[in-house]
Amino acid sequence: MNPLLRTVAGLGTGWVAARGMAVASRLQATHGEAAAAKVSDRRSFTRNAALGASAVVLANLGVAFGMLMWPNKTGDFGSDITVSAGNIPEPGATPFRNQAGKFYIVRNEDGIQALYWKCVHLGCTVPWNAGENDFHCPCHGSIFNIDGARTGGPATRRLDRMPIVVNGDGSITVTTNPTMIEAASGRTDYLPTDATPYP
Ligand code: FES
Repeated sequence: MNPLLRTVAGLGTGWVAARGMAVASRLQATHGEAAAAKVSDRRSFTRNAALGASAVVLANLGVAFGMLMWPNKTGDFGSDITVSAGNIPEPGATPFRNQAGKFYIVRNEDGIQALYWKCVHLGCTVPWNAGENDFHCPCHGSIFNIDGARTGGPATRRLDRMPIVVNGDGSITVTTNPTMIEAASGRTDYLPTDATPYP
């Protein structure tokens, strides 16, 4: 081949090779961008899923907090509950148990109390023990007499009380809102002032 033709052929081959490399590098770049986009999509999905789950948890916490601070008025625990006069026990008689309000109405010569049945030790429900005539916690054995005073076990104070209002017809209204429950700070005994006079 003469030198001129060899030069032209060399230039042509070089151009084809250069174009091929350019196309290959463009393809590679496109592939890399697609892969990067996929990773980015996956990250966005994971981030959105985590944000969504956090929002659901926060919403549930908000509802629970709202129910605690502003309880409904349907007669459930947290609301004001009315106990009819016919359910108020005689002095010293078996306590009246209110399931929805989680309290017992007890009565002695000083008046009545609404005792929250949640054990002041670790929170178990304390049942009335008719055989022993006291409240006896099944979890760790704390014992409270009919006036709510602690008489044994690991509990460090007497049973908590709920505020009571005596109505004109002899019924009573018990406030079961947890923020209103009166804890006897470290006191284990019963005082006559713990009772609300009842006609
Ligand atoms: S929870 Fe009642 S004694 Fe422990």
